[in-house]
Amino acid sequence: MKNTFGNSLSITLFGESHGPYIGAVLDGLAPGMDIDVEFIKDQLLLRRPSGKISTKRVEADEFSFASGVYNGKTTGTPLCILIPNTVQKSSDYGEETERPARPGHADFTARMKYHGFEDYRGGGHFSGRITAALVAAGAVVIPALKDKGIVIGTHIKSLGDIKDRDFSDYGKDIEVLSHKVFAVLDENAEKQMVAKIEDTAAKLDSIGGVLETVVYGMPAGVGEPWFDSVESVLSHGLYSIPGIKGVQFGAGFDLAGGYGSEFNDAFYNDNGSIRTKSNNNGGINGGITNGMPIIIRSAVKPTPSIYKEQDTVLLDSGKDTKLSIQGRHDPAIIHRARVVVDSMTALCVYDLLASRFGTDFFKGDK
Ligand SMILES: Cc1cc2nc3c(=O)[nH]c(=O)nc-3n(C[C@H](O)[C@H](O)[C@H](O)COP(=O)(O)O)c2cc1C
Repeated sequence: MKNTFGNSLSITLFGESHGPYIGAVLDGLAPGMDIDVEFIKDQLLLRRPSGKISTKRVEADEFSFASGVYNGKTTGTPLCILIPNTVQKSSDYGEETERPARPGHADFTARMKYHGFEDYRGGGHFSGRITAALVAAGAVVIPALKDKGIVIGTHIKSLGDIKDRDFSDYGKDIEVLSHKVFAVLDENAEKQMVAKIEDTAAKLDSIGGVLETVVYGMPAGVGEPWFDSVESVLSHGLYSIPGIKGVQFGAGFDLAGGYGSEFNDAFYNDNGSIRTKSNNNGGINGGITNGMPIIIRSAVKPTPSIYKEQDTVLLDSGKDTKLSIQGRHDPAIIHRARVVVDSMTALCVYDLLASRFGTDFFKGDK
């Protein structure tokens, strides 16, 4: 039973939705990395609910470092980030009566694992709220990756049947996305997606979509061929995010429906650097980076808590019942999950690079 992930860099997540704090411990960071407090705040803002298309639970997301930071830089010892919970409203979750299991959520599975001792309020340890700690942790390592020329960006590739345009210029697109709360490249698609979420909310329902992530500037030769292949590490990390139910690299499942002659990525020499003409393998061959951008798609499911009446059971007695959810929930989580995906990707990439080149690869200057 553990909540720790990673090899050279590990992350532990802790906390419950309605407990006093949530947070993260990062172990294995290089010493001397700059801590950019303003950047961490900005990243947390991208995850925070906003407007009509998000939950009404809006936390301030104040944070502090309990350890691992001195004079604005990492010390190299375990870094603990603490984020207090301030906006709790347990009455929404029916503390007084027997609780129904929310279909699609973790109420039933948590009961099976923790035997009723779990702090279930607001989804407890399974709440999307915990992802704030993941975002803060990601924001610790993203600037260090940038210093090495590696940038990460995610856009909402599709929502329902509405599609965003493809990445065209990775560097520019990633820069544009980094300032957008609703991360869509094509303005028209963005308007349609927002309208679709509002329409879905009005119907007391929720909607899912696909996030597409690019890791740009990654050197070739990173990754361990078998169990810690680049795909294994990234998908392990991404599947940890609540609501992510599919992860694919490059052309992903489409590769299964085509011919080698269509999908092999032909090599060529681009003024001394070896590149590929296409990128159907998403920048990874044999579990190791080939120097092309890493391309990942993550399927985000519709928010499980919907206001429409659903069939379920009561958790104590097992009796069949009907459920109309109260409380504050997002009609779509995809726009908020996007920065969580960026952050998890950054932590995985940092871990892979530190495993390849050593912790001091990211060391600051003294
Ligand atoms: C940023 C974020 C916010 C979320 N907000 C909600 C929410 O308001 N209501 C809800 O039912 N689920 C929400 N979720 C999803 C649930 O936490 C998740 O579906 C649940 O823990 C079950 O895990 P699974 O979907 O991975 O099986 C959110 C997820 C993320 C990443």
